[in-house]
Amino acid sequence: MKKLSTPCYLIDETKLHKNMKKLAAMREQSGARLLLALKCFATWGVFDLMKPYMDGTTSSSYYEARLGYETFGKETHAYSVAYSSEDIKKVSVFSDKIIFNSLSQLRQFYPECSGVTCGIRINPGVSYSHFDLADPARTFSRLGVTSTTDIEAAMPMVSGAMIHFNCENEDVAAFEHLLAGISHKYGTFLEQFDWISLGGGISYTEDHFDALRFAQIIKAFSQKFGLQVYLEPGEAAVTHTTTLVTTVLDIVENTKKIAIVDASIEAHMLDLLVYRESAGFEGTVVRGSFPYQIAGRSCLAADIFGEACFQNELQIGDTIMIKDAAGYTMVKKNWFNGLKMPSVAIMRPDGHIDVLQESSYTDYKRSLSTELRI
Ligand SMILES: Cc1ncc(COP(=O)(O)O)c(C=O)c1O
Repeated sequence: MKKLSTPCYLIDETKLHKNMKKLAAMREQSGARLLLALKCFATWGVFDLMKPYMDGTTSSSYYEARLGYETFGKETHAYSVAYSSEDIKKVSVFSDKIIFNSLSQLRQFYPECSGVTCGIRINPGVSYSHFDLADPARTFSRLGVTSTTDIEAAMPMVSGAMIHFNCENEDVAAFEHLLAGISHKYGTFLEQFDWISLGGGISYTEDHFDALRFAQIIKAFSQKFGLQVYLEPGEAAVTHTTTLVTTVLDIVENTKKIAIVDASIEAHMLDLLVYRESAGFEGTVVRGSFPYQIAGRSCLAADIFGEACFQNELQIGDTIMIKDAAGYTMVKKNWFNGLKMPSVAIMRPDGHIDVLQESSYTDYKRSLSTELRI
């Protein structure tokens, strides 16, 4: 580990495989088709490991749709909060299904979608989410049609729908309750649809999640309405598989001991900051009696990953491994402060490490301007 150049997002192939096996079992038991949500994880260098267990990808933009088509294959679903007509021309080349967010978008682009199956996003007005920021049914939500009149008007143009109504839901009973309400409210439409996507946000791969019960609920729902169910796992596919490996660059003291590492929460694990959560740390050195705050090296005063107690006093050059650095991390990394971008690597089951991606000064420079000067 010492030899790995840091910072680095290190994916553990064995752990990824474990998640994939859990997803595949749930797929088998439920009859659902599983589409990887690229908004969460799009590190296509590992897609060959994921393909056997999943049925394709779902996207939020033209770039994601194209990436899914080119690197994952199988089924490509496209959804965007709002498409431009230029997007539609491009997205329809790469997608099996296009799901529109509103009736007006569906009406505008349906004539250009010949050969592509269309769907509509429904906002059921109910959800499971601990975070207002990610709650699709929050007050004044723009995500999906809310009126049954709009769904009725969409019916001649669509063969299915997407209802994303969960965020980090580990509670199967709560899911079942919400799905029963949705079945009741939209039963007439569900009977006419061929397919439905129930979106993402469900923690299928957590050890305590009752995946068998969940699969039974999906199977019964699918049979009741004669629907092909799609699920769009993002976080569940990659959770617990990856660490952000960093090196301690300095240790300072201001009441607490603070270890500054060669990464940044703002630039490299932004979701923790957005959702005001602390990082967890991995490795044998954690869980001792020497407390440290682990902080990033950007200029931001609160660029803090979290706190941990180590078995020994930390030294400059020590490795600190930050947990759960796969979902919503690599897709959100940015060049704040011009900091070195973490490389992306995978640890094979035999311990061998392959580097999948490295960024350089040229990538940083190109992200800001081309050579053209005015
Ligand atoms: C429509 C849709 N599908 C799938 C996902 C993936 O969710 P998760 O990564 O929580 O499984 C999201 C996340 O916001 C979403 O909005």
